[in-house]
Amino acid sequence: MKHKISVTLNGRRREDEVEARLLLVHYLRDVAGLTGTHVGCDTSQCGACTIHLEGKAVKSCTLFAVQVDGQEIRTIEGMAAADGTLHALQEGFREMHGLQCGFCTPGMILRAYRLLQENSNPSEDEIRLGISGNLCRCTGYQNIVQSIAAGAKAMANSDLA
Ligand code: FES
Ligand code: FES
Repeated sequence: MKHKISVTLNGRRREDEVEARLLLVHYLRDVAGLTGTHVGCDTSQCGACTIHLEGKAVKSCTLFAVQVDGQEIRTIEGMAAADGTLHALQEGFREMHGLQCGFCTPGMILRAYRLLQENSNPSEDEIRLGISGNLCRCTGYQNIVQSIAAGAKAMANSDLA
């Protein structure tokens, strides 16, 4: 049996019929076609599936799609401006080499965005704590921390949201 859901996904409203057992991450990837949200573990540990739900960073493998009916979602595909200009955080990762394979990067950026909403000028320790639910197996984290610090500085000097 399928259930109708309607969501606002990266600013656009859409309706779909989904099975009750469909995880949100699979809805995003397989139904909506937004494959920037990754599946790294399926056990709620890696954070590769992090998205924004009603403005909060959540792991989309921990929710069913039917649970987000009527809510607003942002994925990594919704971070850049409509003309393709990268968000300051994305620029930060590009400039500071905050990625290697890139698998963890969408989740890192979405988590970092929420962190900076809670604390616009975090210390290095606060950044490390803030992304402690997101795992990276390539970088050793140092450049990720520097990327987020660079993004924080750029966001403080602009009106980027
Ligand atoms: Fe969701 Fe790893 S796939 S936390
Ligand atoms: Fe490869 Fe983070 S850049 S997992």
